[in-house]
Amino acid sequence: MNPKAMKAPDFLADYAKQLEQSVKMVLAEHQQVVQHRLWDAMSYALLAGGKRVRPALLMACFKACGGSNEKQAMPAAISIECMHTYSLIHDDLPCMDNDDLRRGKPTCHKQFDEATAVLAADALQTLAFERLTMIDLDADIRVDLIRRLAIAAGAQGMVGGQMMDMQAEICTVRNVLDVERIHLHKTGALIRYSCEAGALLAGANAQEMHACSRYGEAVGLLFQIADDILDATATSDALGKSAGKDATQNKATYVSIEGLQRARELAENLRNIALEACTNLGERGKPLAALADYILERGQ
Ligand code: IPE
Ligand code: IPE
Ligand code: MG
Ligand code: MG
Ligand code: MG
Repeated sequence: MNPKAMKAPDFLADYAKQLEQSVKMVLAEHQQVVQHRLWDAMSYALLAGGKRVRPALLMACFKACGGSNEKQAMPAAISIECMHTYSLIHDDLPCMDNDDLRRGKPTCHKQFDEATAVLAADALQTLAFERLTMIDLDADIRVDLIRRLAIAAGAQGMVGGQMMDMQAEICTVRNVLDVERIHLHKTGALIRYSCEAGALLAGANAQEMHACSRYGEAVGLLFQIADDILDATATSDALGKSAGKDATQNKATYVSIEGLQRARELAENLRNIALEACTNLGERGKPLAALADYILERGQ
């Protein structure tokens, strides 16, 4: 464990606990109606741990924009965690990053098999959309969230970024702008969506929405740069996933293009942009500042 790594803020653990209780309830609702091996694999992946950063960002933006009833935002928090977990299962497949360890446990395809992992991930993706239809707010808000999630997760967002990431492995000419583009898509899009979704659910005004969106874009890129730095500097034990994979797989990362020192400086700059965006949300934006610090200085 990196002794300098920052402990997660207490409210992140509280949100994670609430989220996990709600996820267990959703899984219990599905248990009788879903094929049992598929259900086992979905539960395994969803309940394997994980920092639950995206649901926490959603909740913190919801609160920062004046939202008070956390129950109203919970279906969207579950939804984003389902979408993220699906992306991790696919990311780990032998045809992608070929990883054996995730969240401190065997990856879904190692624990079950490839077909089961692909199908469990597919099911989590559709579950993410289903949850958004259940939000207790006007239909136009629900449709807006579904549309934004579809764009953030799809070809123009996460999936597009994953494609760029895979292509970059076999491409020799790379520069920092290409890496920024990959990261903004593969990781940034879902993180920015999480922040904007929290704002939308709270009925944010234009200024609040702008602040959450700007904050989300900065922490989204920051999140992946920190992930690249951790891959190069931390141990597999600390990360709960295999460390040092980016270099072996010739991944295009900030560390491979710019070096560790410059990657740290860029991450620091993005944290400052995120902190500036939160100041526009006043006192209520303070937890978002704590999350930006944690995203930069986390140990896993
Ligand atoms: C890992 O995401 C994948 C990236 C986008 C870098 P997290 O670091 O949020 O993974 P969990 O959810 O905590 O396992
Ligand atoms: C993953 O990026 C981004 C996703 C869309 C899942 P990485 O491939 O760097 O994530 P880890 O390091 O395996 O968690
Ligand atoms: Mg990957
Ligand atoms: Mg990976
Ligand atoms: Mg990584």
